[in-house]
Amino acid sequence: MAKLIFFLAVQILVLAVVSSTGDEGDNFARTIDRKLLGLHNKEKLTHFKVYWHDILSGPNPTSIMIQPPVTNSTTYFGGITMIDNALTAKVPTNSTLVGQAQGFYAGAAQKELGFLMAMNFVFKTGKYNGSTITILGRNTPFSEVREMPIVGGSGLFRFARGYVEARTKWFNLKNGDATVEYSCYVLHY
Ligand SMILES: *[C@@H]1O[C@H](CO)[C@@H](O)[C@H](O)[C@H]1NC(C)=O
Ligand SMILES: *[C@@H]1O[C@H](CO)[C@@H](O)[C@H](O)[C@H]1NC(C)=O
Ligand SMILES: *[C@@H]1O[C@H](CO)[C@@H](O)[C@H](O)[C@H]1NC(C)=O
Repeated sequence: MAKLIFFLAVQILVLAVVSSTGDEGDNFARTIDRKLLGLHNKEKLTHFKVYWHDILSGPNPTSIMIQPPVTNSTTYFGGITMIDNALTAKVPTNSTLVGQAQGFYAGAAQKELGFLMAMNFVFKTGKYNGSTITILGRNTPFSEVREMPIVGGSGLFRFARGYVEARTKWFNLKNGDATVEYSCYVLHY
């Protein structure tokens, strides 16, 4: 009996050594309890509207072309514009600032005006201060409503998903300045 126990103990030890040395590549991830991150709560649907100001003109533009479109493109194809646009609570540019839209848009369509939008909305007010949502989608600015996905978020918007509807409120044909309403529908915890 003692021999058997000793034999088993040695087997277990050998197995433990083998499995711990064989572990290195496999054991870097593990399943954890959803409760640790508050994911057992019901998902919330939050809606808000912000106004996005694309200012190309004047001494302090917030929207700057860093890559011109390809030669002869009449649709801005290949052009890239970096933005750090103000997001306000109402249409006027001087209404309450709620955050910034930081990222870029790029001409992605050869036969029409169609942008790839890649930007973070960085909120600066109230409980959302410091939280972000990430928008990645297709924007055809001449359409009345453009829908783009919300692909993620941070802070209060961790695990976010959803979509935005963009509607141009104001456009200056001479200098390209524009104000666009972003109506945002966000699922998050
Ligand atoms: C651009 O247009 C000009 C004039 O129409 C033409 O001569 C030239 O070949 C075009 N360039 C390209 C890259 O298509
Ligand atoms: C915003 O600007 C408009 C006109 O440019 C002015 O009439 C209004 O008082 C300003 N509002 C604020 C809150 O500064
Ligand atoms: C937002 O957070 C920043 C950094 O934590 C802080 O400096 C700022 O005062 C906050 N703003 C508001 C409106 O709470």
